[in-house]
Amino acid sequence: MPAAGAGLPLSMKALVYSDFGGSDRFALTEVPDPHIGPDTLLVRVVAAGLNPVDYKIREGYLRGLIDVALPAVPGWDVAGIVEKVGLDTPEFEVGDRILAYARADLVQHGSVAELMPVPVRTAAHIPDGLSFEDAAALPLAGLTALQSVLRSGLGEGDTVLVHNAAGGVGSFGVQLARLRGARVIGTASAGKHDYVRALGAEPVEYGDAIVGQVKELAPEGVDVVLDFIGGSALDSTSELLREGGFVVSIADSRAATEFGGISLWVRPDAAQLAELATLAAEGTLTIERAASYPLAEAADAYRELESGHTRGKIIVTI
Ligand SMILES: NC(=O)c1ccc[n+]([C@@H]2O[C@H](COP(=O)([O-])OP(=O)(O)OC[C@H]3O[C@@H](n4cnc5c(N)ncnc54)[C@H](OP(=O)(O)O)[C@@H]3O)[C@@H](O)[C@H]2O)c1
Repeated sequence: MPAAGAGLPLSMKALVYSDFGGSDRFALTEVPDPHIGPDTLLVRVVAAGLNPVDYKIREGYLRGLIDVALPAVPGWDVAGIVEKVGLDTPEFEVGDRILAYARADLVQHGSVAELMPVPVRTAAHIPDGLSFEDAAALPLAGLTALQSVLRSGLGEGDTVLVHNAAGGVGSFGVQLARLRGARVIGTASAGKHDYVRALGAEPVEYGDAIVGQVKELAPEGVDVVLDFIGGSALDSTSELLREGGFVVSIADSRAATEFGGISLWVRPDAAQLAELATLAAEGTLTIERAASYPLAEAADAYRELESGHTRGKIIVTI
């Protein structure tokens, strides 16, 4: 598949795309095993977690921001077993169960494959009590939520508005904000309000009527806005954010340019990932899985994700 692999035996199965475009570009095929560098692990993938960024990259929307070496395997979230260690990786041994938000600078060897190279700086051990499937659901969305919560500075007694409380990122964001003592108001469509309530937030419906609904719950406005959807979500910010309040968005640069907040791009962070995995293993952080697909149906898994209506995370088991 990659130029570097030309001539190598085709030895592992993977979901691959060879040019940019829709989900029809995906093919399940055999490719050479990936190589590992000195600070990289070769991981036998047990479960891969899917994220919207995977298909945005495949569609070519992020060209200029993220380099892709075609043909490429999608997927940055992985849970699996260490098959081989690099030259200097004292943190891990062959046989360890690990999870990772294994983003490399170049998109090429993703997690929707039998084997994936995983940089040590992105990986953490899976604690006892956490399944591979739940572990694969956690990294990118969990880290995005945690980093948004931390960088917003929210704390005890704050009122926080979470846009897209029922999504992959939002479901973790609500729980992590609640764990820090905040009151959370979360936007979702009506059918997901019970779910949002169970996560610990007061649900409101997104759309034109949002200002009235939030004002009814918080007449003085909110202290923090966490935007996990973009689009028109931040349009209500001037009316809903208290003076001195703070905005973080993962999908709208206006958070920084118009509202003096942060436009966040999630970073791999092994220590934070270990912290999230511990919270999940002890049951403090709930992981919602929308669906699990076998590798043979991985393209369908992406089609379901691309519908934009999932609740929780979609997993591919290898
Ligand atoms: N910058 C970063 O570092 C970063 C990191 C992670 C994700 N992201 C981006 O953040 C976005 C969300 O990611 P995700 O993984 O959480 O997505 P997701 O799980 O696929 O989100 C799906 C959910 O969005 C809800 N939704 C759709 N439109 C909405 C709206 N206007 N207001 C509130 N909820 C709405 C849907 O509910 P209904 O079907 O009921 O409408 C569905 O439950 C994506 O665009 C992703 O690429 C960015």
